[in-house]
Amino acid sequence: MQFIKDFEPEITIASPGRINFIGEHTDYNMGYVLPTAIENKIVFKLAKNNSENIANVYSVGYDGFALDLNNISRSNTEWENYVLGVLSEISKLTDRVKGFDCTIESNLPLGSGLSSSAAMECGLAFGLNELFDLGLSKLTIVELSQRAEHGYVGTQCGIMDQFASVMSKAGNVILLDCQSLEYQHIPIDLRPYKIIMLNTKVSHNLASSEYNTRKQECEEGVALIKRTNPSISSLRDVTREMIEASKHEMTQTVYNRCSFIIDENKRVLEMVKALKEKDLETVGSILYEAHDGISRLYEVSCSESDFLVDFSKGYSDVLGARQTGGGFGGCTLNLVHEDIVDIFKKEAAIAYKSEFNVDLEAFEVKPSGGTAIV
Ligand code: GLA
Repeated sequence: MQFIKDFEPEITIASPGRINFIGEHTDYNMGYVLPTAIENKIVFKLAKNNSENIANVYSVGYDGFALDLNNISRSNTEWENYVLGVLSEISKLTDRVKGFDCTIESNLPLGSGLSSSAAMECGLAFGLNELFDLGLSKLTIVELSQRAEHGYVGTQCGIMDQFASVMSKAGNVILLDCQSLEYQHIPIDLRPYKIIMLNTKVSHNLASSEYNTRKQECEEGVALIKRTNPSISSLRDVTREMIEASKHEMTQTVYNRCSFIIDENKRVLEMVKALKEKDLETVGSILYEAHDGISRLYEVSCSESDFLVDFSKGYSDVLGARQTGGGFGGCTLNLVHEDIVDIFKKEAAIAYKSEFNVDLEAFEVKPSGGTAIV
């Protein structure tokens, strides 16, 4: 079908990417996370087109497609599945979505661990909710977007990214309990330090990566620990003593995965305490500790991320660093004193180029608000 990309928009929605300050891979283990949206966004322009069931979706830089809303199925073109998954999930909740035109423009680097996928899903769901007055709550938008990712994209992700994309508040991180979905906005004041992201440009594809395997390994650990502790249902309920007691039944790999998750959960709560006390030295050392676990125990880092985290340790004015997001590349998050930001970015780029022959991308991010009408 031929698609249309020129139309007069009725609404414009901006949907942000996110960083996760700490709490990696804890979301699908029902633990805690501490993410926030950032200023980098995907912008959606939408209008009804007065057709009963034809949608035109055009993504700047990626081409576009037309689709029949009564006949939605998975596509072989990866990015289209974010759109199709959301439409499919919305159609299970309401029949009020009719024909529409949509353009999508992103300033979020894809596959860089900043969750462009959740920004895509949540932005579209949010926009259609407004355009057709669907009456979906923010939490419903978050949950349907997560299901879209499971069903159409194939990553069995937790809820963190979609939650952060929709629920964030400028100047705060979100302490989210992924078991109860209770959350609090925690003010984050890192001055005189800044959050500098270094993009390894190692682009991950979580659906075809080891992400789903990590989830299975954690489930395997839970099943083994459950034999002696029948009341537990996720790693959230597991203590260090329980893991040690079941260690002899586990492979070293499953033991390492479980150990990382329970440590990481603790780190989230320690981080909240350190942020509240503005104890930035501790904030930084928790970041380094987390990266060590990400790399050695959970094994979702890569040599490029490890190199950049090690590189940052050469600067006393960098308090901490770690790879953020699902892993296998993407960005490292660095806590850098404002006085050395420029020199740090420059020297990191030189070192990275000489090690990997890749042009590093370095940029500051600020905790920002969630998906909204522009
Ligand atoms: C990806 C997933 C999230 C979360 C992170 C790791 O971003 O989408 O649900 O599991 O990885 O913390």
